[in-house]
Amino acid sequence: MDKVLVLDFGGQYDQLIARRVREMSVYAEIRAYNKISPEQIIEEGYKAVILTGGPNSVYLDESPHYDRKLIEIGIPVLGICYGAQLIAWMAGGSVDSAGSSGEYGKTEVTVDKTDSEADILLEGIPKDSICWMSHMDYISGLPEGFMKLAHTEVCPAAAIGDPQRKIFGTQFHPEVTHTVYGKQIMANFLFKIAGIKADWKMDDFIETSVQCIRERLKGKKVLLALSGGVDSSVCAALLSRAIGDDLAAVFVDHGLLRKNEGDLVEAAFRNRFDMNFIRIDAEDRFLTKLSGVIDPEIRRKIIGEEFIRTFEDISEEIGDINVLAQGTIYPDVIESGKGDSSVIKSHHNVGGLPSVMRFDEIIEPLRDLFKDEVREVGLKLGLPKELVMRQPFPGPGLGVRVIGEITKEKLDILRDADAIFREEIAKAGLEAVASQYFAVLTDVRSVGVKGDARTYGYTVVLRSVTTDDFMTAEWTRLPYEVLERTSLRITNEIEEITRVVYDITSKPPATVEWL
Ligand code: XMP
Repeated sequence: MDKVLVLDFGGQYDQLIARRVREMSVYAEIRAYNKISPEQIIEEGYKAVILTGGPNSVYLDESPHYDRKLIEIGIPVLGICYGAQLIAWMAGGSVDSAGSSGEYGKTEVTVDKTDSEADILLEGIPKDSICWMSHMDYISGLPEGFMKLAHTEVCPAAAIGDPQRKIFGTQFHPEVTHTVYGKQIMANFLFKIAGIKADWKMDDFIETSVQCIRERLKGKKVLLALSGGVDSSVCAALLSRAIGDDLAAVFVDHGLLRKNEGDLVEAAFRNRFDMNFIRIDAEDRFLTKLSGVIDPEIRRKIIGEEFIRTFEDISEEIGDINVLAQGTIYPDVIESGKGDSSVIKSHHNVGGLPSVMRFDEIIEPLRDLFKDEVREVGLKLGLPKELVMRQPFPGPGLGVRVIGEITKEKLDILRDADAIFREEIAKAGLEAVASQYFAVLTDVRSVGVKGDARTYGYTVVLRSVTTDDFMTAEWTRLPYEVLERTSLRITNEIEEITRVVYDITSKPPATVEWL
C-alpha cells in the first residue's frame, strides 16, 4: 500500500490534509516535523511528503525548520502555505513579510502556464478561480530550478514547482473546501506527480486488521469497556470479527443513558456479533452514590469511580483477562508539531479501569482511523446506522444534564424531553446541521396552566450547537417551526414540564454542556 507523510509544522488544517488524502483512497499519516528525519522517511517507505502550514516565519531562527536533504532525496514534496515557504527557503529562495498585504480568506488566484512539466500541478484548473489564503509572509524570490505557477493580486508566487526534483508548493490551502479546485490540485500531486496508487480501502483495512489481531492475540482473552459510543462500538465489532468469544465486551448501564439507549446497544450486539457481551444494570448503585450531589465535578468523579468499582465486581465473572482493548482513534494519538513535546493521549472511553485488573497488553485497533473512517468501518461490519452515526454523548451521561438533585423521576422526565427533541430534529432532517443537540432539565419551576388547572412544573432547556471540533461552537439557528413543534410536544406529552426554553449561547463564553 502506498502511503503519504503529512509533515506537521503546527498548522490549523493538518488533520484536514491527511483526511483529504485518505478521501482519495491514499493512506496518509501525520508526523511532527521534529520526529522523523529524511532518512527515516525513505526507510519507512513513504511515497510522497506534504508539508503543512504553520504560524511561524521561516526567516526566524526559532521557527521550525527541516533538514534540506528532504528536497534532494528524490521524494516528491508538496508544501502548503508555511510548507511552501519552507521549500523556497530550503532551496535558496527568499521569503519576506507581506506587512499589511497579507491575504486571508477567499482570494482569486490566476494560473501562469509555463509550458513545462511543472504545469501538471495545476492541470485542469481554469485560469482564474477562488482559493483559500491565510498568510502574512510570501515567497519573494524563487529558488533556482523553480517556476512560478500561479499568482494573486498581491502574492507573486501563489504556486511554485521544480518539475525535475518534483518539489511543489502552494501558498494557498488546497485542502480547504473553499479552494474550489483544491481536490484536483491534491490529486494532480498525488497521482500525476508522485505516481501514487489509490489503494487504501476500508474493506482492506478490515481484512488486514482482522488478520493482524488474530496473529497478535492468538487465543488471549480481551476486555473492552463498551460505552455504546461510536468508537468503542466499532472497536467491539471489529474485535468480534477477529477473535469472537475471546472478547468480553462489558457494557455498564449506569442509569444515566438516554431513552432506550441501553436496549439499542444490547440489541446491536447480543446475538448479532460473536462475543461475550455482558450488560450490567448498575442504575441503583450509581443513583445511590449520586443522591444529593449537586456539584458537577464531584458527580464526574463519582461516576468514574463507580465504573471502576463495577468492573471490579464483575472481574471474577469475566475470569482472567490478559489484554485491554480501547477505542482510541487517530485524532487522539496524533503527535502535535506545535511544541517539542509529543502529546499522546491515552484515551479511556469510560472512566478508567481498576488497577486490580492487570493487563499484559493494550490493543487499539482503530488508532489509525479518523472518525468518518471509523463510522465507515462500523457500517461495513454491520452495526446499525443509528449507533454508528450518533452524536457525541458524554461519559457521565445525563449526570451532567440534570441541574439540582439527580433522581430517577427527573432522569425519566429528561429522557422523554430529550427523545422528543431528537425525534423532531431527525424529522426535520437537521441532524447534519446540528452537531450535538439535547435537553437539559433545570431545577427552576414555574407556573403554567394546563386544561383549567394551574401547574407548577419544571423548565427544560433545549440546547443545539454547530461545530467542527467542539472547542468552539455556535448555537444552531434552528427553524422556529422545529422549536415550536418540540415545545408543544414536550409540554403536551410530559405532564411535569411547564416551560421550554432554547439556549442561544455560543461556546465561548458558555460550554456545550450545562454542567
Ligand atoms: P463542553 O461542555 O466542555 O463539551 O463544551 C465539549 C464536548 O465534550 C463533551 N463532554 C464530555 N465528554 N466526559 C465526556 O466523555 C465529560 O465529562 C464531558 N463533558 C463534556 C460534550 O458533550 C461535548 O461533546
